[in-house]
Amino acid sequence: MDLGLDGRTAIVTGASRGIGKYIALELARQGCNIAICARTAADLEAAADEVRAEGAEVLALPMDVTEAGEPERLVEDAYDRFGRIDTYVGNVGGNRRGDFEELSDEDWEDLINLNFMSHVRVSRAAIPYMREGDAASICYISSIFGRELGGAGLSLYNTTKSALISVSKVMAQELAPEIRVNSVAPGSIRFPGGSWDQRVKETPDKMAQFVEENLAIERFGRAEEVADAVTFLCSERASLVTGACINVDGGQSHSLI
Ligand SMILES: NC(=O)c1ccc[n+]([C@@H]2O[C@H](COP(=O)([O-])OP(=O)(O)OC[C@H]3O[C@@H](n4cnc5c(N)ncnc54)[C@H](OP(=O)(O)O)[C@@H]3O)[C@@H](O)[C@H]2O)c1
Repeated sequence: MDLGLDGRTAIVTGASRGIGKYIALELARQGCNIAICARTAADLEAAADEVRAEGAEVLALPMDVTEAGEPERLVEDAYDRFGRIDTYVGNVGGNRRGDFEELSDEDWEDLINLNFMSHVRVSRAAIPYMREGDAASICYISSIFGRELGGAGLSLYNTTKSALISVSKVMAQELAPEIRVNSVAPGSIRFPGGSWDQRVKETPDKMAQFVEENLAIERFGRAEEVADAVTFLCSERASLVTGACINVDGGQSHSLI
């Protein structure tokens, strides 16, 4: 299947490791040029070299996307370098656990800025450039805990991941037909050095029990599997798909909607 991504430009935030890096790698294999960012310059440059090895031109910008002006700089520099922006993959995100009563305004502002506002800001800056093309798309990395209850201690994560799905649905209406907007909801994804990998190494028995009780396919997901779904959503083959949130979770989630 030709995905129709050859020669296009994609921006992927938080792509120095994990899911974001695998998305950048797959988009590169499909012929995209890529702009990536993360805070740690050395890790970002190492990831950029891996993506270049797939044949892509890569712009790697070390930055903290929660800092004022940085999302806009990412977009402007990508457009200056490549002369077009076709795809934005809003991958950057994190978790901060805590009881609702204990969380401060600062906790809320930090996570809202990282998991939600960074994507609003990159998207808003990129949309005018995306409209110059003929097949633009935005894809946000939410979570199954944006679609259903994550549990106690996850109010920041649950709320921000739900907000991403919500805004993508409204954006899909407003930006059609020029720009498609979707999200994916990964389940528990394990990759070397990631949070699940660390937990498996620290508490293997507990994690084996977690897999048995929670993961229908009896294993963790792989970052490559998320990257494949995202790459499809960003491609011309997904031309009828907008306003969708796709679970990539091996049957882990339980929501009916
Ligand atoms: N892994 C899972 O099981 C899972 C499940 C569901 C959803 N997700 C979602 O998928 C996305 C990626 O998850 P992951 O597990 O691959 O994450 P990860 O391993 O923590 O990687 C996060 C990436 O974002 C960068 N980053 C973090 N804060 C940043 C900031 N303020 N500015 C710029 N870059 C920043 C990190 O590099 P630096 O630290 O150097 O900045 C890194 O490249 C997240 O949105 C996450 O919520 C993950």
